Amino acid sequence: MFASFILVSALLFISLYSLSLIFFSSRKNSTSASGGNKQQHPPGSSSWSFISETIEYIRASLDGVPEKFFFERFKKYSSQVFTTSLFGETVVVIGGTASGNKFLFSNEYKLINTWFPKSILEIFPFAKTNVGNPAGHKSLRKLYSQLLNPESVHKYIGVMDLMTAQHFETDWDKNMHTDEVIITVQPLVKKHSFAIACRLFLGIDYQQEASRIHELHKLFCVVMSGFLSLPINLPGTQLNRAIKSSKLIRQEIQKAVRKRKINVLSHGDSPMQDMLSRLIDLSEEEDRGIDEMYIVELMVGIIFGGITSMGVVLTLVMNYLADFPNVYKEVLKEQMEVASSKGTRELLNWDDIQKMKYSWNVVREVMRVATPSPVGFKRASEDFWYDGYFIPKGRKLVWSSAATHMSPDYFPDPEKFDPSRFEGDGPAPYTFIPFGGGPSLCPGQEYARLEILVFLHHVVRRYKWDKPMPTDVNKEEKIVFKPYPLLTKGLAIHIRPHL
Ligand code: HEM
Repeated sequence: MFASFILVSALLFISLYSLSLIFFSSRKNSTSASGGNKQQHPPGSSSWSFISETIEYIRASLDGVPEKFFFERFKKYSSQVFTTSLFGETVVVIGGTASGNKFLFSNEYKLINTWFPKSILEIFPFAKTNVGNPAGHKSLRKLYSQLLNPESVHKYIGVMDLMTAQHFETDWDKNMHTDEVIITVQPLVKKHSFAIACRLFLGIDYQQEASRIHELHKLFCVVMSGFLSLPINLPGTQLNRAIKSSKLIRQEIQKAVRKRKINVLSHGDSPMQDMLSRLIDLSEEEDRGIDEMYIVELMVGIIFGGITSMGVVLTLVMNYLADFPNVYKEVLKEQMEVASSKGTRELLNWDDIQKMKYSWNVVREVMRVATPSPVGFKRASEDFWYDGYFIPKGRKLVWSSAATHMSPDYFPDPEKFDPSRFEGDGPAPYTFIPFGGGPSLCPGQEYARLEILVFLHHVVRRYKWDKPMPTDVNKEEKIVFKPYPLLTKGLAIHIRPHL
């Protein structure tokens, strides 16, 4: 009964929402036409087709080829720019080409602003303060760079190393009752990545507060499932659950902030031991208007930015190493060389990370073929022209790393998995963009690199793995985008320790 009420409300909402979009967009078009202005909008589908376009995008994503949606429309309408309707919004797709990406990234703050879908703004009301507010975004970025600059995050390599070794001992080795077992990678690496984030961002230690971390992780998972849900905030909807969980997370982090503030200010807690201490220290250093809630929101943003992609990439790396034994062999060789240059209990350091060049090329190739964020959103903050077409102020804009990374113009034979593409000078500017670009470029990319390489250092030296043969019952796993790339069964692998 309740489910059918939700369904009817959802359908009613979608119909009203689409009608209002059509009404407003036709009003806008008629205004410019009646003014005699022959402004030519990018070709593409009308807002009438927002359901069919969204379905087509979702279908391509579930087939593991989100780029197909973009390529078909580039071919049909224009190779540089087209209009479509996605998730209830009329959007102009500009990305997909190096010149489009360059245009979008280098015009942020001038012609273009950050924009988030409605569901994300409801879950994180704080994000609204930065939408269309370059000054607010710039001061946030200054803090990000103080917390996540390479020099600061290199200090975390030792903790990452220790925690990763512990993770394999407690969560993987405990399953090794026989020589060979099947494990599901995705939930394990997500948990691991979250535990590292809790320790390094908030100072919550997994060994001492495992159940607190477990509860927090559950809340984060509910929030993530509400990211791109329908914008319906009614009891029982995904969005409603995500909003409630996001509030609980903020309360929990607020408690951690208060506790840490007392330690930092009264007992001289070392400011460099985790990001939260560093942030509290920075807020005391200068009068920047960083109050308690700002610290809470910033930490929530960093944790979400961090954990969403990390579990995804670690799982995908394991997947491609299972598919390409030769690549696995090369990674193992490189990691053995690093290990052999160290003392028995000596922790990894920055010099070791720099030696992991081939391993990093493998990770980059993984992020090319299965990009963690296949699309990104922006908004026109001014009227402008692009490739001869008029884009009105307020229009939502989409860039796509999936379309760029799979373009044969930049990556010959794009379906082929080939880490050697990243040797030498590597890809041309604006063609490899898993971390975005411009003023919103992911501030966590160095942190991500360290965590992934430390993980690889341990996993390849401990284990060999491959995929179970698909049977009628156990169909072959594949990569789907929901909206991030996921393995349909969470990556079930046969794993065995090295003899
Ligand atoms: C492989 C892992 C990661 C990938 C592929 C990734 C990708 C991205 C992308 C595509 C964006 C949006 C850029 C834009 O709009 O132009 C972004 C933003 C962001 N990322 Fe990451 N990210 C990763 C890991 C991390 C980590 C580990 C952290 C934190 C430690 C982090 C924190 C953030 C934050 C805070 C933003 C928002 C930046 C802003 O609003 O200016 N990310 N990331």
